[in-house]
Order: sequence, then C-alpha cells, then structure tokens
Amino acid sequence: MPRELRAVDWTGNSLALIDQTVLPQRTETRDVRDVDDLVDAIRRLVVRGAPAIGAAGAYGVALAMLQGKREGWSREEVLAAVARVRAARPTAVNLMVCVDRVLARFDEGLDAVLAEAVQVQREDVAANRAMGEAGADWLLKRVGEDRPLRILTHCNTGALATAGWGTALGVVRELHARGRLEVVYADETRPLLQGSRLTAWELAQEGIPHYVQADGAAAGTILRGAVDAAVVGADRIAANGDTANKVGTVGVALACADAGVPFLVAAPTTTVDLSTATGAGIHIELRDGAEVLEWGGVRTAPAASRGHNPAFDVTPARLVTGLATERGVLEVSAGELPGDHLK
Ligand code: MRU
Repeated sequence: MPRELRAVDWTGNSLALIDQTVLPQRTETRDVRDVDDLVDAIRRLVVRGAPAIGAAGAYGVALAMLQGKREGWSREEVLAAVARVRAARPTAVNLMVCVDRVLARFDEGLDAVLAEAVQVQREDVAANRAMGEAGADWLLKRVGEDRPLRILTHCNTGALATAGWGTALGVVRELHARGRLEVVYADETRPLLQGSRLTAWELAQEGIPHYVQADGAAAGTILRGAVDAAVVGADRIAANGDTANKVGTVGVALACADAGVPFLVAAPTTTVDLSTATGAGIHIELRDGAEVLEWGGVRTAPAASRGHNPAFDVTPARLVTGLATERGVLEVSAGELPGDHLK
C-alpha cells in the first residue's frame, strides 16, 4: 500500500499543500508561507474537503503569527489575518471550528498554537479510522454479510479531503481491507470533477475496483439495483441532521430513498454544527458561474447565458439513513438526531 497521503503538512515554517487543482495529471506540492496565499489556496480548492481545510486553517493561525513576526504586524493585524483564513469558504464548519480551537491558544505563543494544530490533525485521522470501522460494521449488518458490497459515492472524501484516511472513502477503504467491497461507483462531481480526478485517483492508488460515472447517471444506477448503499461526506450537519455536502448529493439521497437503498453520511463530529438548527441556516457557497459555463477554460455555453453554481446542497434529515461519526452510527431518518445525541 502506498504511504498515506498528507494533503496538509507542516514543514516547520510553512504549509505544504498537495495542489488538488492539477491532480491527477500532475502531483505537485505548494509551499504556502503567507496568509494571502493560504486564503487563495482554500478558495481555489488547492486544498479542499471540510476536514482538510479545517487542518489548513488550524496551521493558518501559526502562519499568520510567523508572517506577523516577519513583517512587524500588530496583534490586531495578526488576528485580522486569521479572520481572513477563517472566512475563506463559508460552508464547511470545520474551517471555523478548527481555527477557533487553535486561536484559543494564541496568547500562549507559537509553540502552543502549533501543538494544538498538530492535535487537530491527529484527532481527525483517528476519527476517520473510527468512523470507517463503525460505518463498515453498520453497512454490513444493514445490507447483509453474504457478499461484497457495491458502493456509490459523490465528490472526494478520501485522504486528500481530510488529515488522512478519509471519511466516506474511509468507510470504503475499510470495507476493501476486510475483503467486503466489490466495486465503487464514483460520481464525476461536476463542475470541478473531484470524483473523476481525485476519488478515482485515490481508488486507483489503492487498487480498489471502480467506475467513474456522470453525475446524471447516479439515480439510474441506484434505481436499477446496481448499488447496495451510497456513502458520502459532509461539510456541515445541522442539529436536526440536515446535511450540506457537494452539490448533487441530495439527488443521490432521493434516489436511494426511492429505491430503499441506505444513504450513509460519514463525517467527524467537528462537521456537526449544533448551533445551526436546520439546513435552512447553512450558508451555501455560490461559486463563479464560469465554472459551469466553461469546459477546460473554453466557453461552452452561449455568451448570453448566466451560470448558477452552488457548490453544495442540503440533504434533508429524513433522507439520511445513517450518520457515521467517530462515536458510532446514528440512524437519523429513524429519529436519532445529532442535536440529541452529540452534545
Ligand atoms: O468543494 P469541496 O471539494 O471542498 O467539497 C468537498 C465535499 O463536499 C466533501 O464531500 C466534504 O467536504 C467532505 S470531505 C471528507
């Protein structure tokens, strides 16, 4: 098995980010030394996925302190720089949670801030391992132990999207490690192709059999009985279980509900936002319309067309069969709500 990927790595005085915009054609690492570069990297999805941007944000506090020292910033200027990192993308709550957690050690100095950021990263890997096991146990019990499973997933939730191992893809990897996985259907995930570029790349590295399919194929694949379960990640989960994830996820959940196929969300508890009561309170990032009007940098839609480009959608709790976290699986649509169980 290849060495575990590190999407976000602290070098000692800078952040090394695997540039996810150029995978799988090129494997390049960006060395980020200042706050503006980090904000740009988060916005352009050089680093992406809720737990990975949480980890990047955690180290972003240290970056701001180091840059502030180099450039003679006041305390207020350092804190303003940290606030820019915290606000770089609005939907994944992990970014805000991780920045706030590390910022709480600000007055203890750089070493304390770095120690907390390292801890954020370690805990995320441990959470992913635990939810992978819990999710795999739950799926095998629910779907049946008699044959390997066929799993559909959307977007990328693997090592690239986290501090390591993966959330939904961690469940998939766990099934594979147990010899209980037949095949993965990876939705290509328009418009930025996290599925066909990143998930397929990770699955290929692991030798996991998979198909890449157009997002529009997902509902038909589910309705004709070709998958045993869908497993996806999340960017923010409200107290009632409503789940924001990559745009297109809600269509997968609707098809699963119609077909009677389990729809499992896998996410660490850092993705659960108990201060947001329902999905209606989740800020959905609207990205540049050009991402849907162009293909490979070439305009494909008529000049007069405007682009509508929400990066995420909200799957209502009633469609979420299970939520796997590091603490186990909640059966959300059956009434086990995060707000009641994860305080
Ligand atoms: O826009 P992205 O690529 O950051 O969106 C990522 C997703 O929607 C993932 O499914 C989610 O962050 C969970 S990653 C473990």
